[in-house]
Amino acid sequence: MPVVTAIACSNIALIKYWGDRDTDWHIPANGSISMNLDGLFTLTTAITAPQLSGDQIIIDAKPAIKSTQQRVVQFLDRFRQLFGIYHYFRVESTNNFPSGTGIASSASAFAALSLAVTTASGINLSEAELSRLARLGSGSACRSIPGGFVEWQAGHDHASSFSFSIAPPAHWPLVDCIVIVQEQTKQVSSLEGHALAVTSPLQSIRISHADQRLSDCRKSIMSRDFDLLARIIELDCHMMHAVMITSDPPLLYWQPATLAVMQSVIQWRKAGLPVCYTIDAGANIHVLCEGEYQDQITERLREIPGVIHIMHAKPGGSAYLETDN
Ligand code: DP6
Repeated sequence: MPVVTAIACSNIALIKYWGDRDTDWHIPANGSISMNLDGLFTLTTAITAPQLSGDQIIIDAKPAIKSTQQRVVQFLDRFRQLFGIYHYFRVESTNNFPSGTGIASSASAFAALSLAVTTASGINLSEAELSRLARLGSGSACRSIPGGFVEWQAGHDHASSFSFSIAPPAHWPLVDCIVIVQEQTKQVSSLEGHALAVTSPLQSIRISHADQRLSDCRKSIMSRDFDLLARIIELDCHMMHAVMITSDPPLLYWQPATLAVMQSVIQWRKAGLPVCYTIDAGANIHVLCEGEYQDQITERLREIPGVIHIMHAKPGGSAYLETDN
């Protein structure tokens, strides 16, 4: 009875994935770049047993809610189909970051799940193959397989759409100060949001400039150029949120405190502090700086009305098996 435990960290997109070219295979409309978040991870155990007559999905020691169960089983069916596997799994999964903090867990969850179920089935995949598989569970999950700063090459089909590391975690000691301004789960999931992207007249413009932003972001990371990183990730974030706001129906994730943090960060940077922000599909805001500024920036962020709490994450490593440690 193989029992395998895998761990993968969440990631924050610096250049965003928003909208699919092919929904069924999660082929994104544009490539993206992210940083893995050290210390914010999902730990998943996959157990295969001949007596199982269906998949059992346990999240935080409780049977998964129906929508999660369906999404995970759909992914496992896809995996079985692609790799000619005939057994079911018991999957036990927990996040070490508290639920209800607004931190997306699908990236770390499907990355850890992909590594756990392949290993439990005796399948040894390369990093690129594992990344492709994770992508089928959640697009951003393919970026939680490699370590450090990661690029997801959009590609045009299953084979060409996968992620790879562009720099290891130690390359640039950035810190993501994750500012929680809303603890409830967002009302419109990314899954639904991606489908709305095409309804915005701005999506095609966003996509047509994506290669330039990817190249600038890559360059800023490779040369540790914080000013360029700041300009490019805020621009990319604003472009994604502009698409969201102009979708039909519109998606407006920001709360007043989101905007208050954005305005403060812009002012601080004008005054010479190297700091910038990005926002995923939610109200919470990721404020990035180099490690030496973490305390000063955290103190300032705490004073902004509406800030509930702040977590910190450095660049994280690749997905791994518990036995690797
Ligand atoms: C705004 O990867 O969560 O965080 O594939 O439907 O699970 P699904 O979507 P997901 O979308 C991520 C959207 C984003 C930007 C990003 O992470 O690139």
